Amino acid sequence: MTFNPLKEKGISLEKQLRNWHQIVAKPYKKQKVDCYTRTRQILMNGIEVEGWGFKHQLNRFMAEIDSEDRANISRMGRIENQQQMTCNWMCPEDQSVLETTLGYEQVAVDLTAWLAQNEPDKYVKETFNFGLLEDFDHLYRYAQFAYMREGLEPNDIVQGQTDVIIGRPTQHHHNCNSLRLRNHYDKSTASPQTKVNILTVLSGEQQTHNFYAEHGFMYGDHVLRETYAEIKDVEEEHVTMYESLIDPSETMLEKLLLHEFTEVCNYYTCFEDEVDDEIKKYWEIFLDIELGHLHLASEMFKKYEKRDPEEVIGSEIIIPCRFKSQKSYVQKVLEKEIDKRLAPDGKYYNSIDEIPDEWASYPVQERLAENSAPSENCIKIVEFYHDRDVVEASENLKNKEVVLLEKGLQEKAVAHNTVLPEELQQMIDKHEEREKEKKKII
Ligand SMILES: [Fe+2]
Ligand SMILES: [Fe+2]
Ligand SMILES: [Fe+2]
Ligand SMILES: [Fe+2]
Repeated sequence: MTFNPLKEKGISLEKQLRNWHQIVAKPYKKQKVDCYTRTRQILMNGIEVEGWGFKHQLNRFMAEIDSEDRANISRMGRIENQQQMTCNWMCPEDQSVLETTLGYEQVAVDLTAWLAQNEPDKYVKETFNFGLLEDFDHLYRYAQFAYMREGLEPNDIVQGQTDVIIGRPTQHHHNCNSLRLRNHYDKSTASPQTKVNILTVLSGEQQTHNFYAEHGFMYGDHVLRETYAEIKDVEEEHVTMYESLIDPSETMLEKLLLHEFTEVCNYYTCFEDEVDDEIKKYWEIFLDIELGHLHLASEMFKKYEKRDPEEVIGSEIIIPCRFKSQKSYVQKVLEKEIDKRLAPDGKYYNSIDEIPDEWASYPVQERLAENSAPSENCIKIVEFYHDRDVVEASENLKNKEVVLLEKGLQEKAVAHNTVLPEELQQMIDKHEEREKEKKKII
């Protein structure tokens, strides 16, 4: 039997206030945590930040609700705020900014790959695949710094579940804003799955942006600071892209319903999947809390809009964040779509050789990288230590890296410090040579 959240009441709002001991959870151990426990923790923080912020938008912009409902919305906002603390502060003090950053990009890659494969709308799916390859490249760029600065191997964080290798080069992710805007779904025909999928990834991307905004300056290395700035700017584009898929004519209370339903579905999935017994308890309580919010949101929806909530969210739970290894799916998209770009018509996609010389994103890319592209410098710097870039993937995929770069690089608006395919090949050859020498010595 499937679980119908609308039939549940959850914990009532007046019983949702927790004490400080309960709010501030014991952090996990970074050496022991399962990488997908960390991705759940990172994602749920993002979902709560969105849930909290939305309550404030509701109370700022909605005139037509009575004072009792307004007070309940503000009470719910306070609970979201407390849940956010619990989720985010599970992160231990000794997990560095770069380690957490690799966790954020692992969320983006494996979450978006899961959503793409479980997305009924083809256009939305294509957008997920497009965003996926950008975050995939971010993971690779940050991994170079993590190795240089902190001696981290990518698998110290991603635990062999996610490949780390070049993707669509970050310097090509910068676009004219008008091209990032997508067609939105139609609220009356889109499936609840599509709505929940988009709100889930949007919350994750928004929090990734916020994390880089608040932490990118914490390193003294200027190239790294600039790389955070560059990637943060792409996350801003990702927020623009994913939010533009949402029908802007949804009412505020319809959006409230979708926010609470999205929280319910995510905690439900977290609870099903969690391997850490202590953390699983939080997912269970938070699922019950969200069922309480959903119940209130559906009562308000019925009261003010005289509509049935089932029209918007259906009658079944949705699984939006099943974290598991997506290597084969991601590799397939990578090989096929690394040369994809936002089409000049602003709504679809083209390959590099189909875009015209007057493409609106070229001047943006040229201006941003007129001194150099920080995301390219990171490969040049790691070369000094390691002869080549730091990569974690099967031999089969590793052998395709230069071909991937050839396919993914544009001819126009390429930064002067770009690592070209022939240079990357030389680095790889040098590294192999060095490895052979090492064996001789031993
Ligand atoms: Fe929440
Ligand atoms: Fe990213
Ligand atoms: Fe992103
Ligand atoms: Fe909520």
